[in-house]
Amino acid sequence: MTDPSGTDTGSDIRTAATSTAAISTTDAGTTAPGELAGLTAIVTGGASGIGLATSRLLAARGARVAVLDLNADGLPEGLTGFTTDVTSRESVDAAVAAVAEWAGGIDIVINNAGVSAIGTVEANGDDDWRRVLDINVIGVARVSAAALPWLRRSAHAAIVNTCSVAASNGIPDRALYSASKGAVLALTYGMAVDHVRDGVRVNCVRPGTVDTPFVSNYLKRYDDPAAERAALDARQPTGRMVTPEEVAHAIAYLASPFASSTTGTALDVDGGLTTLRIRPLAT
Ligand SMILES: NC(=O)c1ccc[n+]([C@@H]2O[C@H](COP(=O)([O-])OP(=O)(O)OC[C@H]3O[C@@H](n4cnc5c(N)ncnc54)[C@H](O)[C@@H]3O)[C@@H](O)[C@H]2O)c1
Repeated sequence: MTDPSGTDTGSDIRTAATSTAAISTTDAGTTAPGELAGLTAIVTGGASGIGLATSRLLAARGARVAVLDLNADGLPEGLTGFTTDVTSRESVDAAVAAVAEWAGGIDIVINNAGVSAIGTVEANGDDDWRRVLDINVIGVARVSAAALPWLRRSAHAAIVNTCSVAASNGIPDRALYSASKGAVLALTYGMAVDHVRDGVRVNCVRPGTVDTPFVSNYLKRYDDPAAERAALDARQPTGRMVTPEEVAHAIAYLASPFASSTTGTALDVDGGLTTLRIRPLAT
């Protein structure tokens, strides 16, 4: 196989894509577990939380799944780990090349690796800003740039970024985190328009608070973690945090060939937090 840079990698050549392939009306009736059969997906941050739930779901639907994570050991059966640090261009380029070599191509990229940051603008110093933006924003750009030469060759190319409700709502004590996710939202639109004619769809999900290690770890920093957890549940109009599986299903939809006319979209998976205004419960 010749990779996009012209290097002969010795496997079969994939058909180059000139546009996103449409799903026919006959296909549209199927919601088969194998709807991603034959496709290869990269999931960054796929070893924990939302990324792990997404990796499992994509694999269950037939995709070959490569987990790119700082800690890619001990993954469940069916997932293949590639130890990667998304803050390092060298590490990302090597991992993406290794996935392409392993699978013979790349069709789907889920840019999900991310870290939290708590505090107002007074709480976070320059090192915090550099570290969080490096992971949450530049990480998306690095992985996407490395994968694009492969995605352009896929007939079903899709990128899904994990954004957050913090991109479009004022969440207290999340100045830096919100700025990072606002950038992910803008980057999603920017990448979507840049690559629509390459046949590469780019979308994002905006989860509300999701019950993952990301949340349980930062809850430990509060004096009363149980009270803070209850407040997070109560903030959602649905009265509870979102589950990683609920976000995974939204990501899997956007990544699927069934979403072939959906690009430049932010899908809220937030229990109604962004748009619903509910009356407080009577006490
Ligand atoms: N949990 C929430 O409430 C919530 C809400 C909205 C959006 N998000 C976003 O969802 C994504 C996943 O969050 P989660 O809650 O599943 O978190 P998590 O902490 O459970 O998982 C994050 C994963 O990213 C990996 N990671 C961190 N830095 C990395 C790096 N430099 N290189 C490679 N991998 C790295 C970690 O090892 C971990 O496996 C993040 O982008 C987060 O901002 C989370």
